[in-house]
Amino acid sequence: MTDLSSLFTPFKLGNLELPNRIVMAPMTRCQSPDYTPGPDVAAYYARRAKGGTGLIITEGTTVDHPVATANDTIPAFHGRALEGWKAVLAEVHAAGGLIMPQLWHLGMARNPATSPDPSLPSAGPSGLVSPGKRMTEPMRDEDIQDVVDAFARAAADAQTLGFDGVELHGAHGYLIDQFFWVGTNERTDIWGGDHVGRTRFGVEVVRAVRRAVGKEFPVVLRWSQWKMGDYAVRLVETPRELEQFLQPLAAAGVTAFHCSTRRFWDTEFPDSGAELNLAGWTKRLTGLPTISVGSVGLSKADEVATRGEKINVSVANLELLATAVARGDFDLVAVGRALLANPEWPMLVREGRFDELVDYSGDALATLY
Ligand SMILES: Cc1cc2nc3c(=O)[nH]c(=O)nc-3n(C[C@H](O)[C@H](O)[C@H](O)COP(=O)(O)O)c2cc1C
Repeated sequence: MTDLSSLFTPFKLGNLELPNRIVMAPMTRCQSPDYTPGPDVAAYYARRAKGGTGLIITEGTTVDHPVATANDTIPAFHGRALEGWKAVLAEVHAAGGLIMPQLWHLGMARNPATSPDPSLPSAGPSGLVSPGKRMTEPMRDEDIQDVVDAFARAAADAQTLGFDGVELHGAHGYLIDQFFWVGTNERTDIWGGDHVGRTRFGVEVVRAVRRAVGKEFPVVLRWSQWKMGDYAVRLVETPRELEQFLQPLAAAGVTAFHCSTRRFWDTEFPDSGAELNLAGWTKRLTGLPTISVGSVGLSKADEVATRGEKINVSVANLELLATAVARGDFDLVAVGRALLANPEWPMLVREGRFDELVDYSGDALATLY
């Protein structure tokens, strides 16, 4: 087998010493009744830590704002739920792992009708659930400030509890990304308009979080071109636009960018002639560490298995991945579905025990193994 050793070299993320380049991708599991992660959630993450995952990014966990969440089985990151998180953290650390919560506000992706408090309208920059589809009034300045403050409080709590950093969920069409994208942000005030205006909300969140946690604490920002409702959407079309988008976020205090793509091997700007993916371009333009993601260790890329279906776990694309890491295109690699199917994925891959890898099936989502 080919040389995968670059995936198993240490890396310094801010002040954090990671033992290897493998990160658990954030994955919503909806198995935290009453918004609180229980012992099964703690055991689930600890299993991945024991299996050799260098850094765990938790499922999205919602900030303290009345319409941040859509479901009482999504863990919250405030109030009583923090006790549950304390136990998760203790177990992961005891297993030798590192862990950051992914802080989340769903924005207009929250469906009020099926949410814990259906009487409250959802919150978004222009009240749009998708381009042209207005459900409610745009957020007022006070609402925007409340949400910024809620992210900062959650980050401060994460630090106080002893988490190893935080990731801000600025991807996939949720609140922060609803501000980023012109399709859901039609504002003409300081929170909208050009790239700089649409990036302002994310910048303010990063600034407030940075103020709350100080200079050293790792703050990762996850972002994506694609949206849950439309995989073809792009926030930026050229390296120049990407630079305009990233620069203010980097200046606001992001430690690393987590660039969410569906296939890590996709060249982001083929016309440029550079064979870099989104994480590669983001690192080149900001000089900051980046995390890549998307179908790592999966043979049938770009598909989401539903109940009963399987996606073949494979090592076919790992050589390409290890080469990109060795070259320094990007620094870290998040693994999602392959790690759900194989809690010990990093260890098995490192030891070359490829025939022990199990296929990913949509059924894996039913239980928290
Ligand atoms: C069940 C499931 C839940 C997910 N939940 C989240 C989430 O809460 N936050 C997030 O940023 N991405 C989420 N994602 C996306 C993953 O983090 C990851 O980017 C995606 O699965 C691609 O990686 P993979 O091909 O290795 O699975 C989720 C993906 C899956 C399969």
